[in-house]
Amino acid sequence: MALVLVALVIIVPCMCSGNTTSFILDSKRFPDDDRFAPPIGNGYLATNLFSDAIYVDGVFNGYRKDSHRARIPSTASIRVTSEVISDVYRLDMRNGVFIHKANLSNCEVEAQYFAHRLFPNLLIVLIKLMKTSLSHTCLNVHLHLNTGKSSPDFSLEQKMVNINNTRYQYGPIVQPETNSSALPTIHHYWTHAPKSLSLTASEKSHTFKFITSIHTNKTRASHGYSTALAMSADELYWLHSKMWQGLWKNGKIETVGDTDLQQTINACFYHILSSLPSKRTDSFHGLSPGGLSRGGKLLPNVSGGPHNDYAGHVFWDMDTWIMPPIMMFYPDMARTMIGSRLRVLPVVKVRAKASGYEGAQFPWEQAFTGYETCPWKPASDYQIHVTADVGLSLRHYLAASSTTRAAELLDNGGTDLVLEIARFWKSRAVKSTEGDYVITGVMGPDEYHFNINNSVFTNYNAKLSMELPDLLMKKNLASLDKIELDGFLEVSNKIRILYDQQHDFHPQFDGFSLKEKIKQSDVVLLGFPLQMPMSRATRRNDLEIYENVTDRYGPDTGTWSMHTVGWLELGEAQRAHQNFRMMFRNINGPFKVFSEKPANSTEGPRCVNFITGAGGLLQAVVFGYGGLRLTDDHLEVSMSGIPGTSAWAMNDLKYRGFTFDLRLADTVVSVNVSESEDANKTLTMVLQDGYPYPLQIGRARETPNKAFRLRVMNMSDVRVHSGGQSVTGDFLREWILLVVLMITNLLCSAVVNNVLY
Ligand SMILES: *[C@@H]1O[C@H](CO)[C@@H](O)[C@H](O)[C@H]1NC(C)=O
Ligand SMILES: *[C@@H]1O[C@H](CO)[C@@H](O)[C@H](O)[C@H]1NC(C)=O
Ligand SMILES: *[C@@H]1O[C@H](CO)[C@@H](O)[C@H](O)[C@H]1NC(C)=O
Ligand SMILES: *[C@@H]1O[C@H](CO)[C@@H](O)[C@H](O)[C@H]1NC(C)=O
Ligand SMILES: *[C@@H]1O[C@H](CO)[C@@H](O)[C@H](O)[C@H]1NC(C)=O
Ligand SMILES: *[C@@H]1O[C@H](CO)[C@@H](O)[C@H](O)[C@H]1NC(C)=O
Ligand SMILES: *[C@@H]1O[C@H](CO)[C@@H](O)[C@H](O)[C@H]1NC(C)=O
Ligand SMILES: *[C@@H]1O[C@H](CO)[C@@H](O)[C@H](O)[C@H]1NC(C)=O
Ligand SMILES: *[C@@H]1O[C@H](CO)[C@@H](O)[C@H](O)[C@H]1NC(C)=O
Ligand SMILES: *[C@@H]1O[C@H](CO)[C@@H](O)[C@H](O)[C@H]1NC(C)=O
Ligand SMILES: *[C@@H]1O[C@H](CO)[C@@H](O)[C@H](O)[C@H]1NC(C)=O
Ligand SMILES: *[C@@H]1O[C@H](CO)[C@@H](O)[C@H](O)[C@H]1NC(C)=O
Repeated sequence: MALVLVALVIIVPCMCSGNTTSFILDSKRFPDDDRFAPPIGNGYLATNLFSDAIYVDGVFNGYRKDSHRARIPSTASIRVTSEVISDVYRLDMRNGVFIHKANLSNCEVEAQYFAHRLFPNLLIVLIKLMKTSLSHTCLNVHLHLNTGKSSPDFSLEQKMVNINNTRYQYGPIVQPETNSSALPTIHHYWTHAPKSLSLTASEKSHTFKFITSIHTNKTRASHGYSTALAMSADELYWLHSKMWQGLWKNGKIETVGDTDLQQTINACFYHILSSLPSKRTDSFHGLSPGGLSRGGKLLPNVSGGPHNDYAGHVFWDMDTWIMPPIMMFYPDMARTMIGSRLRVLPVVKVRAKASGYEGAQFPWEQAFTGYETCPWKPASDYQIHVTADVGLSLRHYLAASSTTRAAELLDNGGTDLVLEIARFWKSRAVKSTEGDYVITGVMGPDEYHFNINNSVFTNYNAKLSMELPDLLMKKNLASLDKIELDGFLEVSNKIRILYDQQHDFHPQFDGFSLKEKIKQSDVVLLGFPLQMPMSRATRRNDLEIYENVTDRYGPDTGTWSMHTVGWLELGEAQRAHQNFRMMFRNINGPFKVFSEKPANSTEGPRCVNFITGAGGLLQAVVFGYGGLRLTDDHLEVSMSGIPGTSAWAMNDLKYRGFTFDLRLADTVVSVNVSESEDANKTLTMVLQDGYPYPLQIGRARETPNKAFRLRVMNMSDVRVHSGGQSVTGDFLREWILLVVLMITNLLCSAVVNNVLY
C-alpha cells in the first residue's frame, strides 16, 4: 500500500492536460457486427469488448501453420442485460477504458472495462449500481457472462480457491509449434460473476469488482489477483488511467478544426498502443495485423461472416507499417518491437542454413518460435523481403537514436542481427552473366505476382540491408571485419535495380506489364519508406503509373498512405488528400475499428482491428503531412497543412535524445524543445542558408514554413561556429530546467519499474 501511495504522489507530474472530447467515442448502440467491437489491451492481455476470448501475448496453440493465438474463455465479458430505458457505450481513449452507462427502471448502472496498464496481467470489470433519486431499491440487475464454449486450445483444470467467488484454472496449451517446444501453461484467477446484482436497503450505491488475472507464471497470476482484491475500485482505476494519460503525454498529434480527424488519429494510436506493453521488454512476441485482441482460429459462423485475423502472427506489417510512426513518439516501444525479432534470431539462422543460405532469414509469419507459420505456401516460399524489412526498421531506429540508445541495441544483439541480415542477402543474390547481381524467385509486396525475378522493391531493400554494416562502421558504432564489409558492398553496389529509361519509371520486376493489376503499393515504396534517391519526374511517374493499376479494393496494408506521402513530397496537396481520404473507407463503426478492406468490398472487411491500417494512417500524417525523413545525419522536416484543419502539431517527438514539438499554424512552423538527454549536445535547426541555429529548451523557435533540417551537434561546436551569438545567455536557466526534467523523468521511470516488478 505504501508503494501505491508513493506512486500516486510521483506519477502526478507525468499527467497531461489536453482536449478530452476528441478522446471520447460515444455510441447509443453497441455495434451489431461484433467485428467492430473495440479492443482493450495492455500488450500482455487483450480482449475485444463482450467477446468470449482473452488472448495473452506469446501464447499460441497449434503445430507450425496451424499455430494461432490460444483462446482463453473470457471471464471479463460481463454485460448488463436488464431491460434498459436508455444507455450509452463509450470508448474513453485518454484513460484506456470502455464504459457502458445504463438507466434501468429503478437504478443507474455504470460498467467499466479495462486491461490494467500498470499491472499487465489484469483485466478489470467494475460495475457500479446507483439508486436513482426516486427509487429506494435497486434489485436484480441481470448480468450475462459470455465465456463461450470451452477452449480446445488448452487442457484446463479447475481448482478451488478459498476466497469468496474466486475461481482458478490452469493448464498447458495442447500442441506447440514444434514437437520439442515446451508447453506454456496459463494460470487464470477470476471473480465469478453472479446472475444478478442488487443493492442492500442501506446502500445508495456500490461498485462491484470483477477481477481476471492471467499469467504463465502462477505466482504472478495469484499475486496480481490478490493485489487487485486488496485495492479499492477507485485505486485500481486511478493507477490504470494515470498510466494511459502518461502515454498520451509522451506523444500525440493535435489538430485544430476537424473533430473526426482528431478522433481518428487518437483511435489509431489507441488501437496500436493497446497491443504494446508500456514497459520496455525483451519478452514481447511482436505485433500482429489484428492486434493482440484477435487471432484465434478462423471462426466461420460468428455474426458478420468469417474472421480471419492472421492467427496473431507477426508480419512485415509490424516493422514497416506500424513501427515507424510509433518510433517517433515512443522509441522504447519500437525497441520492444525490434526485441521481438531479436528473440528469434537463433531460429531464423537455422532456416537460412536449411535453405542453403548464410545469415538469417525471417519467416513470412512469425509466431512463438520464429519457425515459419504461414499457411499460404507462395508467401512463405517467395515473400522473402520481410528479412530486408527488418533490416530497414533497424536502419530507421538507429537513425532516430542517440549514440547511447543505438549502442544499447547494438550491444544487445543488434550488431549480430544487422550482420546476419546482410549475410543472408549477400548469399541470396547471384552474379549474373552481365556482372551485376540478381535476386530471383521472389514475391514483392504485391502478392498478385510471385516467383518473379528482380523485384525492384526487394532488391533495393536488400541493398539497404547490405549497406547497413558499413554505415555502422563509418559512424563508429561497430567494429567489423573489413573483408566481410567489402563483400557486402560488392553486391550492394552492383545489385540490379530495374529502371525503364524510355518511360522514366521503375518496372516492378523482370517482364512486368502495365496491363496487370497489382494488389497494393510496391514500387511506390521505393520513394518512401526506402528513400531511394530519384528525380521528381521519376517519383511522379511511379506514383501515376502504379496508382492506375492498383486494386482499389485490394487488401490494403497502407497503399493509400504511401501515395499520400508521395504526392506531398511533390507538393500536390489535392492528389495527396484524395489518397488520404481513401484510408477512411477502412474505418468502421462508432469505435473507429480499422479493417483490412473496406467493409463493403466483395470479400467484406477481412482482418479487423487492422492496426496495420492505423499505422499507415499515422505514417501519412507524420511522414506525409509532417514531411519527416530520417537520414544518416539529420531529420528532414517539411510540414504541410492538413485540409480541414487550421493548425496541427506533433507533440513530444523524439529524435536522438531530444524531445520536441513541431507545430504548423498559418504559414509558420515552430519547434519547441522540451527535453535533452545530453547536456553537451544541442539540437540545431538548419535553414536554407545552411547555418545551424541552436534551439533552446522551452523556447519555441518559429520560421516561415519551408523545409528545414534538425541536426544534433556538440554544444562546443555550436558555440565556436556561432561566434558572438547569445547561446550562453540562457545557459543557467536551461540547466536548471534540465535538472528538473531529468529528476522528474527518473522518478517516473523508477516508479513504473518498482510497481511493475
Ligand atoms: C440517465 O438518466 C439521466 C436523467 O434523466 C440522464 O441525464 C442521463 O443522460 C441518462 N443516462 C443514460 C446513459 O442514458
Ligand atoms: C467472504 O464472504 C464472507 C461473507 O459474505 C465475508 O464475511 C468475508 O469477509 C469474505 N471474505 C473475503 C476474503 O472477501
Ligand atoms: C511433430 O508433430 C506433428 C503434429 O503432431 C506431426 O505431424 C509431425 O510428424 C511431428 N514431427 C516430428 C519430426 O516428429
Ligand atoms: C514467477 O514469478 C516470480 C515472481 O515474479 C519469480 O520469483 C519466479 O522466479 C517466477 N517463476 C518462473 C518459473 O519464472
Ligand atoms: C475540444 O474539442 C472539441 C471537439 O473537437 C472542440 O469543439 C473544442 O473547441 C475543443 N476545445 C479546445 C479548448 O480546444
Ligand atoms: C457454418 O455455416 C456454414 C454455411 O453457412 C454451414 O454449412 C456450417 O454447417 C456451419 N458450421 C457450424 C459449425 O455451425
Ligand atoms: C527468373 O529467373 C529464373 C532463374 O534464373 C529463370 O529460369 C526464369 O526464366 C526467370 N523468369 C523471368 C520471367 O525472367
Ligand atoms: C491513368 O488513368 C487515367 C484515367 O484512365 C489516364 O488518363 C492516365 O493517362 C493514366 N496514367 C498513366 C500514367 O497511365
Ligand atoms: C462502398 O461505399 C462507398 C462509399 O460509402 C462507395 O463509394 C463505393 O462505391 C462502395 N463500394 C462498393 C464495392 O460497393
Ligand atoms: C559533457 O562534457 C563534460 C566536459 O567535456 C564531460 O565531463 C561530461 O562527461 C560530458 N557529459 C556527457 C553526458 O557526455
Ligand atoms: C515551449 O515549451 C515550453 C515547455 O517546454 C512551454 O512552457 C512553452 O510555452 C512552449 N512554447 C510555445 C510557444 O508553445
Ligand atoms: C562531439 O563530442 C564527442 C565527445 O566529446 C566527440 O567524440 C565527437 O566526435 C564530437 N562530434 C563532433 C561532430 O564533433
